[in-house]
Amino acid sequence: MENIIFLEEVDSTNNYLKARCGALSDGTAVTARIQTAGKGRRGHAWSTNDGMLPLSVLLIDPPECETLTARVGLAVCSAIAEMYDKPPELGIKWPNDVIVSSHKVCGILCESMRFGASTAVICGIGINISQDENYFRMVGLPNAGSLLMLTGTAPERNTLLKAVVSEVRNRAAMPFADCLDEYRRRLVNLGRSVKILGAEGERVAEAVDVAPNGYLICRNENGFFEVGSGEVSVRGLNGYI
Ligand code: BTN
Repeated sequence: MENIIFLEEVDSTNNYLKARCGALSDGTAVTARIQTAGKGRRGHAWSTNDGMLPLSVLLIDPPECETLTARVGLAVCSAIAEMYDKPPELGIKWPNDVIVSSHKVCGILCESMRFGASTAVICGIGINISQDENYFRMVGLPNAGSLLMLTGTAPERNTLLKAVVSEVRNRAAMPFADCLDEYRRRLVNLGRSVKILGAEGERVAEAVDVAPNGYLICRNENGFFEVGSGEVSVRGLNGYI
């Protein structure tokens, strides 16, 4: 497949594209065997070992930036499903953690920046392919799991990489309105109690729906309100989901 850069080692595949976005074409992807300083959402570090597939895709002036992060989650679900004759049930914990059997198998960090008159959005994706339970215990991530752990089969790394890159490029061009029903079906939060952790502290509510802009629609004793992925992190009442 065209336009995929393979690196042995990099600090972060997102940083790699950020530093070069003016010189690379729309849709360029990068992966590395090792990431030494992988980044997660909300300023967290993203730990990396050989069993994790890190990749980032550069999108230049993509339409509907606000919903891109949700569409990338759907792209990853489609790509993983393509790897199996009988795919596992793939859910999304809002806004875009990909879930198998209540475990996070993929995290997504979309970052945007201006260059010249354009906006570059870098979609960073980390898929847990083949780490074992011991690894996640050691790094203190009890809610994470790998595809091997949860399905018994590890997809071939480069086959999965190509499928993800292709699905992300497709979804980037697709209006969210055409993805909304599928996104609702995949969301594991709907109808459940959620803890919303934002700048003003913690709120408990029920997640009831997704708005056309990708915001999570919630309800509590004060009525309905919407939360955006930039502002908050969402957890289940008694744990991760
Ligand atoms: C999350 O916190 O869930 C998002 C994790 C995103 C990790 C990926 S790995 C490839 C890309 N490069 C990074 O530094 N982060 C993303």
